[in-house]
Amino acid sequence: GRAGVVVLSTLPGDAVERLRAEHDVRYRDEDSSVPPGELPMLLAGADAVVVTLSQRVDETFLDAVGPQLKVVANVAVGYDNVDVAACRERGVVVTNTPGVLTDATADIAFALVLMATRRLGEAEREVRTGRPWTWGIFHLIGVSVQGRTIGIIGSGAIGLATARRARAFGMDVLLSGRSAPDPGVVAELGARVVDLDTLLAESDVVSVHAPLGPQTRHLVDADALARMKPTAYLVNTARGPVVDEAALVAALEAGTIAGAGLDVYEDEPHVHPGLLTRDDVVLLPHVGSATIDTRTAMADLAADNVLAVLAGRDPLTPVRG
Ligand code: GLV
Ligand code: GLV
Repeated sequence: GRAGVVVLSTLPGDAVERLRAEHDVRYRDEDSSVPPGELPMLLAGADAVVVTLSQRVDETFLDAVGPQLKVVANVAVGYDNVDVAACRERGVVVTNTPGVLTDATADIAFALVLMATRRLGEAEREVRTGRPWTWGIFHLIGVSVQGRTIGIIGSGAIGLATARRARAFGMDVLLSGRSAPDPGVVAELGARVVDLDTLLAESDVVSVHAPLGPQTRHLVDADALARMKPTAYLVNTARGPVVDEAALVAALEAGTIAGAGLDVYEDEPHVHPGLLTRDDVVLLPHVGSATIDTRTAMADLAADNVLAVLAGRDPLTPVRG
């Protein structure tokens, strides 16, 4: 029979129409998260809810939906916005969107590597001043990535896809993370699997790809930054709280590291004021998966997860958190 589905924010493509073909859908066609006071009105009685990463799914949210809820489909690979334990206790399946955003996010990670090492944000800002510049031997001089080492923290799909890009640009690859990557992939990348301290000490670029959880919050803290080379760059396209942002600002101010490229922040959309004024950091507004192709695939996968669970089938990409 038809179930009640709430899609809490704007989705591209025909995901909402496909849900409508089988179920009764309430579609909130907006990007913002829902103020807690409005949750019951929007959610009460739903069997399935589709959310994005700006929506917290906690006890308050689950209470607002009610005990009939079967599935929460997160339109993101990261699911730190969802209290997975609370969902499990209530028998609610949680799904995410791995795989479909791997390349888009790795592209942005490597874009940040190039932007940081070649000072491209600063360079672009210079042209936009409208003042003439002079070609000069040392004008906006950066460092080459070829022959240098990238350290990938978190050897999941996105970390490995970033490593592949780095390899194609002539970089050596170090990998670390909770789960050991496939030996075939390590060999293909000519990579070395090392512990975090070794990775931090030996890398010219450190790129963060670990999911956010209790074990990874502030994984890159003042200690970790102090282990990095003073010539090294930090890139983060995972989740902001994996890096201690205040410690990063202090490290940049002290010259402990050379620069950073960030797509994510500890308290989005708030950015530490100490970052906003620095020319040695590149700052993007969480656009890792922001291509129409990828966002459409993410919405489709979320819809497919909802349709599967409501039909009594296994979800395609359940979160096992
Ligand atoms: C984006 O940040 C995601 O987790 O999909
Ligand atoms: C996990 O699925 C990832 O894409 O890294």
